[in-house]
Amino acid sequence: MSYERQRISNLIGENEIILNFFSGVGPFSIALASKCNSCVVHSIEINKTAYDYLLKNIELNKCQEKVIPYFGDAFEIVPKMFINSVNRVLLPLPLDSDKALPIAYQTLKEGRGVIHWQITERISSKELREEIIIDRINSISYSYNFSMNYTITDIRLIRWLGPKIAHIAVDLSFKAPE
Ligand SMILES: C[S@@+](CC[C@H](N)C(=O)[O-])C[C@H]1O[C@@H](n2cnc3c(N)ncnc32)[C@H](O)[C@@H]1O
Repeated sequence: MSYERQRISNLIGENEIILNFFSGVGPFSIALASKCNSCVVHSIEINKTAYDYLLKNIELNKCQEKVIPYFGDAFEIVPKMFINSVNRVLLPLPLDSDKALPIAYQTLKEGRGVIHWQITERISSKELREEIIIDRINSISYSYNFSMNYTITDIRLIRWLGPKIAHIAVDLSFKAPE
């Protein structure tokens, strides 16, 4: 996971507005914030204990200006506060990844940006191909009745969670609709 944080930190640019749906105690948000001078990472956490540690970690790392914490459910906070407003979204929770994707897409400013999507798939290492991801996005689009114009810019195995259970990072890039 630390490689994943480093990998994404190397992708961000100045002035980016980033939204972390599931920030935990803040490792992703703080790693990103410490890589840029003028970005902001809005960071949501539902668990009070984790949220309190998030506040502590923000203070310890002196990134109060760049990591903005929110206590609550991302699925309630995001539609109220972040539609059409951010450049990059982090979805570091494979459990709710399908439900989060349509909402994450709506937060991208003018339909442009990047979503770092984490998922789990029951596959073997040979099956880790782009088609698996495209099939999954098609099925989410069908279930949630939405469509999006995306490009897969990266697919990376984070780790095996069990035999044939892959934890995968997918980078989705979006351009404004024509
Ligand atoms: C996998 S952890 C975060 C991982 C962390 N970003 C890292 O790199 O280690 C997921 C966090 O999401 C929080 N979470 C789960 N559902 C949530 C929701 N609906 N809204 C906000 N936070 C949520 C959990 O409490 C947990 O702390």
